[in-house]
Amino acid sequence: MRYKPMTPEFFKRNRKRLIEKLLPDSTVVLAGNETMPWSGDQDFTFRQNSNFFYLTGIDEENAMLCLCPHHPDPSLREVLFVKHADPTMVIWYGKRLSQEEASDLSGIKTVKWTSDFQSTLRDMVMQSRTIYMELNEYLKYSTPVADRNRRLIDELKSLYPLHQFERIAPQITELRLSKSTEELEYIAKSIDITRKAFLRVLKTTKPGMMEYEVEAEISYEFMRRGASGHAYSPIVASGENACVLHYITNDSVLRDGELLLLDFGAVYGNYAADCSRTIPVNGKFTPRQKQCYNAVLDVFKQAKTLLVPGASIEKTNKQIALLLEQKMIDLGLFTAADVKNQASGASPLYFRYYMHGASHFMGLDVHDVGLKTTILRKGMVLTCEPGLYIKEEGIGIRIENDILVDDTPIDLMRHFPIEADEIEKLMKESTL
Ligand code: GLY
Ligand code: MN
Ligand code: MN
Repeated sequence: MRYKPMTPEFFKRNRKRLIEKLLPDSTVVLAGNETMPWSGDQDFTFRQNSNFFYLTGIDEENAMLCLCPHHPDPSLREVLFVKHADPTMVIWYGKRLSQEEASDLSGIKTVKWTSDFQSTLRDMVMQSRTIYMELNEYLKYSTPVADRNRRLIDELKSLYPLHQFERIAPQITELRLSKSTEELEYIAKSIDITRKAFLRVLKTTKPGMMEYEVEAEISYEFMRRGASGHAYSPIVASGENACVLHYITNDSVLRDGELLLLDFGAVYGNYAADCSRTIPVNGKFTPRQKQCYNAVLDVFKQAKTLLVPGASIEKTNKQIALLLEQKMIDLGLFTAADVKNQASGASPLYFRYYMHGASHFMGLDVHDVGLKTTILRKGMVLTCEPGLYIKEEGIGIRIENDILVDDTPIDLMRHFPIEADEIEKLMKESTL
């Protein structure tokens, strides 16, 4: 394992809290991820289903979890299934988790091989009225790919047509929204790795480099520090490329005098970090770049104070957009009169220069569970990421830190360089 496993107490507590939310006489069936085909005889790098990881700590493909808290046989109240290691596969790919190891990681006493899944599940289902199953309910995501849980729903509905089926995602979402001390430790670790990568970028970035060379510096620092990789495809966007919000080709040359927008974050132990910084390619902001940068930085500093209990992303997004609108007026992008005269119902003027939200939840997934309308509570982690994109000037700026909601919100990236002078100083001190 590339990371120190979390304590099984964390997963035990998550299961216990989930069980408290279930209807009486119910069974939860959750499939872990399988590997996804890439090309030829290769698969994509394995990534566990976040809900499955949250309840089991098992980071291996093809595992299953069944919970049947009212089962008369106590050994069948929580059962984890892992795939038996075929001796030939062990020769080629190494050993898999034994039942004992899986039990130690998850804190689940009964661990069986996946070949026993259907017969064990049948026993649980016959004691239950309701079967809870999982679909990825991320609001803005859909895919034609039927994952294991999606296929299992069809299969179990056909096998058990007289049972009541329910969604488990809302209950797990409710739990995942507030981060525990253990989770905050893992987030802190991925944040620390991300900070080291940023320091490396400040030391290595020079005009004439390719964007992908900067990406390589980030990846190098991530891998050598035990990250399992990037939490999302990193954005390394120079000049006008920074105005493409999801620019990930990273294949342009860094030109003297341009800005470079970086949006990157490590994953450690399946927990994400999400950071954006904007730096001058040659180590010195032009007066106009600095003026725009400080405008965004000023909004960022105000914006992060808004992430307090009782607020919501929907509400703070509006407040932050208005702060940016005022900065756009100050920067001469349009006038206060233009704002006053804009047609009601049309897309607001500021949208020309700032067209995304300022926050999302973050945790096991970089865009973690939770809605724009979710009322913020202490212990939630969100990003704060105001931006400004002036395509006609070749300027794209975003500043993004991860924030822990509290009466005084805690900036988990407060140790990252952020002031324009600080960035210039560190770039000048280049030693690599
Ligand atoms: N890089 C993804 C995001 O900032 O939301
Ligand atoms: Mn983000
Ligand atoms: Mn980001």
